[in-house]
Amino acid sequence: MIKIAVVGATGLVGTEMLKVLEEMHFPAHEFLFCASEKSIGKKIVFCNHTYQIISVHEAIEANCNIAIFSAGSETSKKFAPLFANKGTYVIDNSSCWRMYPDVPLVVPEINAHTINEHTKIIANPNCSTIQMVLALAPIHKNYNIKRIVVSTYQSVTGTGMKAFQQLMSERKGEACEKVYPHSIDLNCFPHGGTFLPNGYTTEEQKLVDETRKILGDPSINVNATVVRIPVIGGHSESVNIELEHDFDINQIKNILSSSQGIVVLDDPQQNIYPTPQIAHGKNEVFVGRIRRDETIKNGLNLWIVADNLRKGAATNAVQIAFYLVQKYFS
Ligand code: A2P
Repeated sequence: MIKIAVVGATGLVGTEMLKVLEEMHFPAHEFLFCASEKSIGKKIVFCNHTYQIISVHEAIEANCNIAIFSAGSETSKKFAPLFANKGTYVIDNSSCWRMYPDVPLVVPEINAHTINEHTKIIANPNCSTIQMVLALAPIHKNYNIKRIVVSTYQSVTGTGMKAFQQLMSERKGEACEKVYPHSIDLNCFPHGGTFLPNGYTTEEQKLVDETRKILGDPSINVNATVVRIPVIGGHSESVNIELEHDFDINQIKNILSSSQGIVVLDDPQQNIYPTPQIAHGKNEVFVGRIRRDETIKNGLNLWIVADNLRKGAATNAVQIAFYLVQKYFS
């Protein structure tokens, strides 16, 4: 009898999580949905049943097998250890636990093997990192990536419900609570998270640290610029990589096409390449504009797009949950 809790069930990622659990027919016998105190008792519909939002404390006491968190770092910091102490596996979508050496940081297609029964807290990587490493892992395996230069074009949905509402309110000319330092509609800014002393942002640093951890290679150089754009549906990334070994461009396309979870959309003459509208609501990572960088030896350019609420968050978390079910609960 598998019991699973979703903490942050009313948020943007939480709502997507419910859709993915339903679509993938997640084999749980009992579902518990939690949010903040203000939402307790509210109704939520899942798989044609109406559930009441319960408190996190109630879910902890319920001795769940798995709890998927998407309620921000503070909530994860406070409550994830309480679930873990009860023997519940926590899949945490926040950045709180990602860089702890003992916490697996998992993209299942790449490194599910880092999960073991002693590591009750499992971190879901940052959305921009997940889509990038999913495409880069098979290339790294075959050609050894030395350096990555990535610029992101990130959807407002990555900042949560209030950011989405800011974009929509600005579009209608309505007053609203601002979560960004600038207008986002008809604008873009190179600012994700907060600025660090080295001039990079916290979102940029995540791309550096998490990529190295997931690919298990601290020698990879990563240079990131994160840009927020007025888009919903997905994050896009312009990724330039330098490989140790020479490659054949068709071989790269074949490797990507045959990799799990990746769809190659690359026929520029027919205007075929990934866009956030194509990725919206899909679980795959889309790759296009695959071309040689002619300015360096063994250089390659990719355009990588994914729905940040899906593979960048909910889908990846649910895939980890499936892995746990297969490994420990079946
Ligand atoms: P609530 O809707 O009650 O505020 P988003 O990132 O889209 O803003 O969503 C954040 C999610 O995290 C929401 O479901 C929110 O619930 C939930 N949340 C925020 N704070 C807490 C908390 N202290 N305990 C549990 N859930 C929380």
